[in-house]
Amino acid sequence: MNGYYAVAIDGPSGSGKSTMARKLAKAFGFLYVDTGAIYRTLGLACSRAGIDRRDAKEVMKILSGLDLQIRYNEAGEQCMLLSGEDVSREIRLPEISLAASDVSAHQEVRSFLLDLQRKFARENDIIMDGRDIGTVVLPDAELKIFLTASPEARARRRLAELLEKGENVRFEEVLRDIIIRDEQDTTRAAAPLRKAADAVEVDSSEMNAEETYGRLCEIIINRFALAPEEKQ
Ligand code: DC
Repeated sequence: MNGYYAVAIDGPSGSGKSTMARKLAKAFGFLYVDTGAIYRTLGLACSRAGIDRRDAKEVMKILSGLDLQIRYNEAGEQCMLLSGEDVSREIRLPEISLAASDVSAHQEVRSFLLDLQRKFARENDIIMDGRDIGTVVLPDAELKIFLTASPEARARRRLAELLEKGENVRFEEVLRDIIIRDEQDTTRAAAPLRKAADAVEVDSSEMNAEETYGRLCEIIINRFALAPEEKQ
């Protein structure tokens, strides 16, 4: 405990972590940090450079020379800058999801990015989401939530999001990508996705967004004796 609150939200891709974390951060006056966006930006850089993303040395070469910055715009949204270029939209493309998963499997990459992530928690009340926040990045977080849902439920939600953004994708494709990423993220040797022993698990398969949000608010309020907007 360093005087700031830290909430870690981990879970598989498409579990609604980012949407929930963003909304909760706004309601409780915390800074939202989306760590997946960092791996996505590195994935994009590797993809542009045309290197073999499974080769840790190649990926580290890119990472060590990378001008990667995290900025918050006036609306409080996290933006990712790659050599000054705002790539916040491009990193959401499905092919970049897989690239992010590939580069995130390397232990060297994870170690390199650790301090960048922890810095936020030293300077802010934060809600941080990812795969290893409760287990590795912020093992002392006051509250850890493991948000999960079935692959089908997650694929349905991701599809709706992508269609809304005008992407032309099919359910089967989205489900396949989710299954591949689950497999990669949970079986990798370096910081695999898993629930921290002291995390509260929330399975949102049968809940809509509002119900999930309500449940998460309840957990935060109970843990911190805090009402939305109270801690500013
Ligand atoms: O949360 P996301 O879908 O934006 O994450 C993209 C990829 O990055 C995901 O496949 C796993 C990886 N990741 C990770 O390994 N550790 C994190 N803390 C966040 C994301």
